[in-house]
Amino acid sequence: MKAIDPRLLYLDIPEMDRDHEQLVSITNKISAMVELPEFRLKDFSKELAQLKQYTIEHFAREEAYMARIAYPGLAEHKIQHARIMEELATLAAEGSTKGAKIALSQRLFTQVWLFEHISGLDGEYARFAKGKA
Ligand SMILES: [Fe+2]
Ligand SMILES: [Fe+2]
Repeated sequence: MKAIDPRLLYLDIPEMDRDHEQLVSITNKISAMVELPEFRLKDFSKELAQLKQYTIEHFAREEAYMARIAYPGLAEHKIQHARIMEELATLAAEGSTKGAKIALSQRLFTQVWLFEHISGLDGEYARFAKGKA
């Protein structure tokens, strides 16, 4: 799977773009890892744990940002964040036990949530912020 170019996901909100870049960078690392011939489960689990941790921090910053701009879709957006966190937590837990077999589904999930969530739902608050400016 190709690495994601973080520029495709820019919202023109520098503080959020920086976070998204970091998320993309971790996800790209995970993707590249899965393709290595000497796939190491320990490193993989470590990256997944890092993705989970960074996602928690990003969601908190993003929710604070949405609150700051009085974004009306905040409650719904929070629900989506909670769903993603649940799935990420499950995957991170499974990652250390089931190994490479589920690596592919993890990779798909992380890339899909990045793309769909950032370009979809995150894009909505970005449009709202711009409309207010
Ligand atoms: Fe986001
Ligand atoms: Fe979000």
